[in-house]
Amino acid sequence: MEIRRSLSMHASPRRSPFEVLRRLSESGLIAPDTTPEEPVARLEERVAGLLGKPKALFFPSGTMAQQTALRVHAETSGRRAFAGHPQTHLQVWENQGYSAVHGLRFHPVGDRNALMGLPQLRAVGEPLAAVVFELPQRDLGGVLPAWEDLREQTRWVREQGAAAHCDGARLWEAQTGYEASLAQVADLFDTVYVSLYKGLEGARGAVLAGDEVTIAHAAVWRQRLGGAIADAWPLAVLGLLGLDEVLPRMAEFRDHARALAKAINDDGFARTHPVVPQTPMFHVHLPMSPADAERAAQALAEETGVKLLLYTRSNPDPGRCSFEVGVGIGALELSPREVAELIRGLPSRV
Ligand SMILES: Cc1ncc(COP(=O)(O)O)c(C=O)c1O
Repeated sequence: MEIRRSLSMHASPRRSPFEVLRRLSESGLIAPDTTPEEPVARLEERVAGLLGKPKALFFPSGTMAQQTALRVHAETSGRRAFAGHPQTHLQVWENQGYSAVHGLRFHPVGDRNALMGLPQLRAVGEPLAAVVFELPQRDLGGVLPAWEDLREQTRWVREQGAAAHCDGARLWEAQTGYEASLAQVADLFDTVYVSLYKGLEGARGAVLAGDEVTIAHAAVWRQRLGGAIADAWPLAVLGLLGLDEVLPRMAEFRDHARALAKAINDDGFARTHPVVPQTPMFHVHLPMSPADAERAAQALAEETGVKLLLYTRSNPDPGRCSFEVGVGIGALELSPREVAELIRGLPSRV
């Protein structure tokens, strides 16, 4: 089955091996005398500059970058516990790596379907090494805390002697929801992780930014974990291409997300959360069971080459489900009207 257009970042046809090779060779970033180290060093410098942090370090994955950041904050503070949203990637997708590999404890803060707030953070009680803030909160439809609320929470965390860490897998996208630069957002945090392959549409990879001492310490753990790979340059080159070509388009993606959401809500068969997307990401809530929605989306993809969704999220009401939309270059090819009509037509494909 050939996927030609997709509403999901993770199904990006841009990540096919052929496309990756083409983009690498046409990047203009690799000359005959380029060493394997150069693109990685350039990427680290560029990300540090964008985030206004003294130092940045490449990691093969965000999973390794974040566990490393937490390990370093734990060793620096002498505390073993950290806190974050109940649906943080660290808790849901990493097989408790923070505990199995690093001996850390996790405090889920607040309701799994709401953003964290200061009252819930204050209720944790145990002195923390770090608090993880995910911007935007993917599992809630890419929503963001209000700027003042985020400032208040991160200030309080740092006053308690804990580090404020940003899970910025989609920080590039999140910035479009604030009237603040990337560096102003990053300034609220001691460490920031960003991804090279989600919004930036690279192949894989991550960068962790922070102060010199923290990043030097993180480099030790990166080596221990096997992440100091010498030939990371293809990932770095694609990351640099993303910063040049895709990062400047984030506001355009957010506007298209808003246009898609409006068409879906106006149509009335499904509804979006949030109603007006804050970032290029939102959820579509369907009056269909997860199994029916997935069967219909599969039939649609086979028939038309359009991938509407990667997977559904279940709902306490078994007759309902939701799926994620992530707008990047690919989703711009789908017009608001076409998307609303494809969603309305799903029940006829079950
Ligand atoms: C919010 C968030 N944090 C962290 C990660 C981990 O990134 P990686 O896949 O590079 O390990 C992901 C990946 O999907 C994510 O969505």
